[in-house]
Amino acid sequence: MSTQPKRVLVLGGTVYLSQTIARLAVERGHRVTVAARGTSGEPPAGAEFTAIDRSVPGGVDALRGKEFDAVFDVARIPAHVTPVLDALADRAGHWSFVSTISVYKHFHVVSDELHDPTAPDSTDPAIEVYGASKVACENLVRERLGDKALITRPGLIVGPGDRNDRLGYWPLRMAEGGEILAPAPRERLLQWIDVEDYATWLLDAADAGTSGTLDAIGHPIGMGAFLDGVGAALQEQGVIDAPPQLTWVPQEFLLEHGVNMWAGPDSLGMWVTTPEYDGHGSRPAGPAIAAGLRLSPLADTVARWWAANAAAPRLKAGLSRVKEGEVLAAFHGREPDPGLARLDRERRFAVPAPETPDYEG
Ligand SMILES: NC(=O)c1ccc[n+]([C@@H]2O[C@H](COP(=O)([O-])OP(=O)(O)OC[C@H]3O[C@@H](n4cnc5c(N)ncnc54)[C@H](OP(=O)(O)O)[C@@H]3O)[C@@H](O)[C@H]2O)c1
Repeated sequence: MSTQPKRVLVLGGTVYLSQTIARLAVERGHRVTVAARGTSGEPPAGAEFTAIDRSVPGGVDALRGKEFDAVFDVARIPAHVTPVLDALADRAGHWSFVSTISVYKHFHVVSDELHDPTAPDSTDPAIEVYGASKVACENLVRERLGDKALITRPGLIVGPGDRNDRLGYWPLRMAEGGEILAPAPRERLLQWIDVEDYATWLLDAADAGTSGTLDAIGHPIGMGAFLDGVGAALQEQGVIDAPPQLTWVPQEFLLEHGVNMWAGPDSLGMWVTTPEYDGHGSRPAGPAIAAGLRLSPLADTVARWWAANAAAPRLKAGLSRVKEGEVLAAFHGREPDPGLARLDRERRFAVPAPETPDYEG
């Protein structure tokens, strides 16, 4: 989409999604300001940095009186939202707030029932109130900006820069070859949104003046189609020369043998259990697509991820080779392969503790 240069403010802009929004806005020729503490990462080249700290009184004074055509915010704490609204809302052309599908009260069914919001001045960073805090943040933005506000609720965001990187285990593990543990059933639905697709859409939506509240998520696909797609993408890239050798193991067996869902150590990335999360991977993508979201093919998402990570891979979710080998051996009723410890030592990547909530998204 061709756009006129605009004054764009990204509240955040030093990591992952907000950094991608800022980078793409610079690439579109906008005048981009990134406002953050500057402790988490770097603003993209070409963006101007304004130091703010939303957690202290007067911490956003540097923004007061400024004017922006489009503002993007990723805040998680309600008390961080009001000061920026006070400073900027009256003169902002469009306000895009990034929420989360964790605002929905239920994960076992697809339902639009929300958590009760926390207090609008809550400063509680606890993961237990993440969804309720985002509901409160959404309400503050909606009340102040009305039809200038677009609130989007992403599910799992995947792509380069993801600090939990639930996607990355699969291409990295497939690149190693051998028998690969996969969570049955193949039909288990999952969803994601590519960070680049999401940021592109938010910029387009600001240009179009889109308002309202929308989920930001791709179409549900089965775990089988997903893993086949990752394998096919790696074959296309020349990373592997044959389809990955997947062994599908039922959920009960995985849980009994200490395999975790979703993220972090001893997990199978992106896998969630049934029936507790049956609504988690099957929210409708149609409304966001009707509002302009364009979804990359999985092959492109994997290719971008691989290009960004292959040179220095960092495994942030997934199983060690020893753990995977033990589970597969138990499943087949045979002894584990003692050589797997060597493969773990040779891995160029390690599983650190997750830095942000395991189950975010
Ligand atoms: N990752 C997922 O799969 C997922 C899924 C669903 C929803 N979400 C939502 O998507 C968004 C992701 O945003 P993101 O990728 O940009 O990561 P993020 O970790 O939410 O980024 C927070 C940004 O805000 C800044 N910040 C934090 N505390 C601040 C403070 N006190 N004052 C000023 N700035 C502060 C940080 O920079 P400094 O630390 O440098 O200040 C950083 O740039 C979030 O809204 C998250 O809730 C994520």
